[in-house]
Amino acid sequence: MVEKKLSKSSFKSSLKIRVRRARISDAAFLSDLSEELGYPSTKNEMIFRLKNILSDPSHAVFAAESAEKSVIGWIHVCVRNCVESNSFAEIVGLVVAHQARGKGIGALLMQEAEKWSLRKRLHVICLRSRTSRKQAHQFYKHRGYKITKTQRVFIKGFESLSRINIS
Ligand SMILES: CC(C)(COP(=O)(O)OP(=O)(O)OC[C@H]1O[C@@H](n2cnc3c(N)ncnc32)[C@H](O)[C@@H]1OP(=O)(O)O)[C@@H](O)C(=O)NCCC(=O)NCCS
Repeated sequence: MVEKKLSKSSFKSSLKIRVRRARISDAAFLSDLSEELGYPSTKNEMIFRLKNILSDPSHAVFAAESAEKSVIGWIHVCVRNCVESNSFAEIVGLVVAHQARGKGIGALLMQEAEKWSLRKRLHVICLRSRTSRKQAHQFYKHRGYKITKTQRVFIKGFESLSRINIS
């Protein structure tokens, strides 16, 4: 057990991962990773979104950067203000590059999002995850998250507007 932890932690440090705020210049990396998450988007679409999101203090996007300066994971967290409940934090998206999974990077990103939520004095953090993402569910449970309900997601497109990508 100790040996596993030791070898794992030395592997983590040998990876030299830095978690920092995402930047507009990360757009190409973020869109590639977004595709791995199942949401393909172009670099230009990502630039447009990041411009809105990064300038909004109720949102934060953190990037995990490798020693080679590639972004190999990202997490997006925001404040959710609701009429029916106190404000809480919501993890809107999380992905780690396929080849970098299982090395503690997702955990580092979650920690950063949780620290951000605490700094915002939010007492609850939640996330939604497709029922098919069984591995991610294990990951969240392992980090202390509990399933409180299941939901149906309803969407409606407005044909007068250009294509939407919120499936
Ligand atoms: C889910 C995801 C973000 C996890 O990131 P990761 O970097 O692979 O996970 P980590 O290596 O940080 O795992 C952290 C801990 O969770 C545990 N864990 C990870 N996956 C697990 C699994 N499938 N079952 C049980 N435990 C798991 C690890 O053992 C580790 O525990 P430890 O710190 O005690 O050793 C990543 O697998 C991913 O990008 N998946 C595809 C996209 C996705 O599903 N995103 C979530 C959308 S809701």
